[in-house]
Amino acid sequence: MFRRILPIGLLILGKLTLHSAEQAKESPKAIAPAVSTETGLLLEPPLDLSYFTTERFVEMMESVGAEKIRKPWTSPVVSLPERTPTKVNGLSKDEVKAYMVQAKELFDQGKAVPVSDVGLISTQEDVIRQPMLNHVSAFANNTARVYLLVQRAASSMGWGYYSIVQDLTVDPALDYYATLKPSGPRFDGESCYKCHSSGPLAIHPTREDLVLDAPLAAAFNQHIAEQPRSRPQFLTEKPADFGEPIPFKFCARCHSTEDDADRDALYQTHSHPIRVMVDFGYMPPNRRLKPEEIAELKAWLEKKP
Ligand code: HEC
Ligand code: HEC
Repeated sequence: MFRRILPIGLLILGKLTLHSAEQAKESPKAIAPAVSTETGLLLEPPLDLSYFTTERFVEMMESVGAEKIRKPWTSPVVSLPERTPTKVNGLSKDEVKAYMVQAKELFDQGKAVPVSDVGLISTQEDVIRQPMLNHVSAFANNTARVYLLVQRAASSMGWGYYSIVQDLTVDPALDYYATLKPSGPRFDGESCYKCHSSGPLAIHPTREDLVLDAPLAAAFNQHIAEQPRSRPQFLTEKPADFGEPIPFKFCARCHSTEDDADRDALYQTHSHPIRVMVDFGYMPPNRRLKPEEIAELKAWLEKKP
């Protein structure tokens, strides 16, 4: 792939130019509504949220501070000041943490552009089974893509803060995951990786009215679709075994450790997002699986790693 041999500065410049040219041409594709295609892959039936009204959703979303959300926007990504990379072999952990803290500060000051939704994948999970309210914001400069998730379950009181930083100064990019505690960011890994198999995830609202500003959500997803190939930083320090990578060409041609794949490999450990993404018809992106392909996938997911 040609982009792998370009120096990083050129690569980013190239990407940005392309990005705005594309945006001028067409607005991003709207996110398809979440409707189960009844593949039998879900471990729990699709959650019935009919009791959860749009009004209740808006009220709960605003409990984070109404002035921090529904911001006017031209881009879903807030630009951070450019930085000269200080090391050749990647950002230091302190630099990564500083980005995470900066993202939280910008959100708290009302300077982020959050996408607010009830996310499908976490809500549908067998252990949660209640609306998970998300405010997702993106930030970027020439050395990092930074993401902030401000989240609460409908039944809980306070908002939790989580962050992902993609270090763009190395190739492939490295993904750092952290929970932002009052004392500062605490790095996480495996607990996030079971859903975040390839860094930040696209937004999927559980229901069409459970997202504020659908065009913003679509623009955010375009940013996610264009993200560089990355791998989790925690695996470079502590290799772990997640079972065999997904063997089916109908997934692996895009999800694999090969250089030309769109996204990093999927393993059995990613069973939850795989079941949800396929059942709700989001994956593969351009067609529905045939019954025999679903049967193969199901058998593989059920095999213990
Ligand atoms: C049960 C699956 C699941 C787990 C586990 C999980 N996440 Fe997420 N996360 C999601 C989904 C799904 C989204 C997008 C949700 C939406 O539709 O708004 C998301 C969004 C995010 C975002 C916003 C950027 C993006 O990816 O869209 C951040 C930041 C984030 N998560 C951090 C974390 C961190 C840090 C951990 C581990 C402490 C973690 N997540 C664990 C499912 C998960
Ligand atoms: C044509 C390429 C392509 C094929 C084929 C494909 N995917 Fe994806 N997949 C993507 C892209 C691009 C994303 C990120 C954007 C998004 O989530 O919409 C993604 C996202 C995902 C995610 C969320 C985690 C991540 O990497 O962001 C899961 C889980 C997933 N796909 C599962 C599957 C499964 C299972 C199959 C096979 C049944 C499959 N995909 C087939 C391109 C593909």
